[in-house]
Amino acid sequence: MEKELLRISDLTTQFKTDQGVFPAVSELSLTVGRREIVCVVGESGSGKTVASLSVMQLIPSFASITSGEICFEGSDLLKQNKKKINEIRGGKIAMIFQDPMVALDPVFTCGSQIVEAILMHDRQPRKQAREKALDLLQRVGIAHPERVFDSYPHELSGGMCQRIMIAMALSCNPKLLIADEPTTALDVTVQAQILELLKQLRDEMDMSILLITHDLGVVAEVADRVAVMYAGKVMEEGDVRSVFKNPQHPYTQGLLRSIPHLDRKDGKLYSISGSVPSIASMPSGCRFHPRCPLANDLCRQQEPGLITSGAGTNVRCWKAEEQSKEGTVG
Ligand SMILES: Nc1ncnc2c1ncn2[C@@H]1O[C@H](COP(=O)(O)OP(=O)(O)OP(=O)(O)O)[C@@H](O)[C@H]1O
Ligand SMILES: [Mg+2]
Repeated sequence: MEKELLRISDLTTQFKTDQGVFPAVSELSLTVGRREIVCVVGESGSGKTVASLSVMQLIPSFASITSGEICFEGSDLLKQNKKKINEIRGGKIAMIFQDPMVALDPVFTCGSQIVEAILMHDRQPRKQAREKALDLLQRVGIAHPERVFDSYPHELSGGMCQRIMIAMALSCNPKLLIADEPTTALDVTVQAQILELLKQLRDEMDMSILLITHDLGVVAEVADRVAVMYAGKVMEEGDVRSVFKNPQHPYTQGLLRSIPHLDRKDGKLYSISGSVPSIASMPSGCRFHPRCPLANDLCRQQEPGLITSGAGTNVRCWKAEEQSKEGTVG
């Protein structure tokens, strides 16, 4: 069996805006292996959601995928017809969207929504679907499935709603689960429980997970591999240990420095100055250069490619490229 489940290569997704047409995701390459948890991390506006919606081909009508391949189980999703994509979406690939309160319909009970999700892809008597829904609720750690089945979303806590969303996503036994910020709205204890649940489900259900987050704490908790995105591009990518231990890109280094540490003596919290540029005003050269403490003229003028660094990560940075040529790292 092939080790790779999903391989995104050179994906570019553009948005038509009042000011013109601009890419929100550029030349994105990313692979997800079987049973692997890959995290995409980056600040708000870096293109994480657009990238994940592109995989599902759920981008708005004024957006378009202009280049690239999205190979899933060996065939390019971008070359499939609508019917086939519909089968795969919510079949072999399931998605948990960024906002569970929007994704769950307030006028139907949670149970009936899971039942509908089951019936959409697998015709069966309603009674059987109900049994399956109750089983899924139990699987996602809900102690009283019968009670929760008959509840409306507003009657449940945020953590419970997130579990319902996960149960709905699992209803089709997906091979790949794409989860966009599944724990952002939750408090840290519930977040830890949901992350633990995702890891457990990966093992039990033989599933891969592409997890989108802006939180490096989440990455450290669950990821096998991580891709750091900035302004629509992958800046650094590698196995989670290498990236955390020996980050090569100044952006990754900045993100890691921004994690609060109790033992910081001065009590100050580091933050990267400035913000992610809008898609209509990308800087020249390296997109990160206006915020980079190490930027020089080359960084301002030319965009670096993604190269393999001596530290075992793939990195898009002139400085890291220089260092890897010199044989020094970090
Ligand atoms: N519907 C849209 N129309 C125009 N531009 C958009 C639209 N959706 C997203 N963008 C732009 O595309 C870029 C990437 O947005 P995206 O939502 O993917 O970011 P994100 O990394 O998911 O951020 P967040 O962490 O806030 O969810 C941003 O600059 C955003 O302004
Ligand atoms: Mg997003």
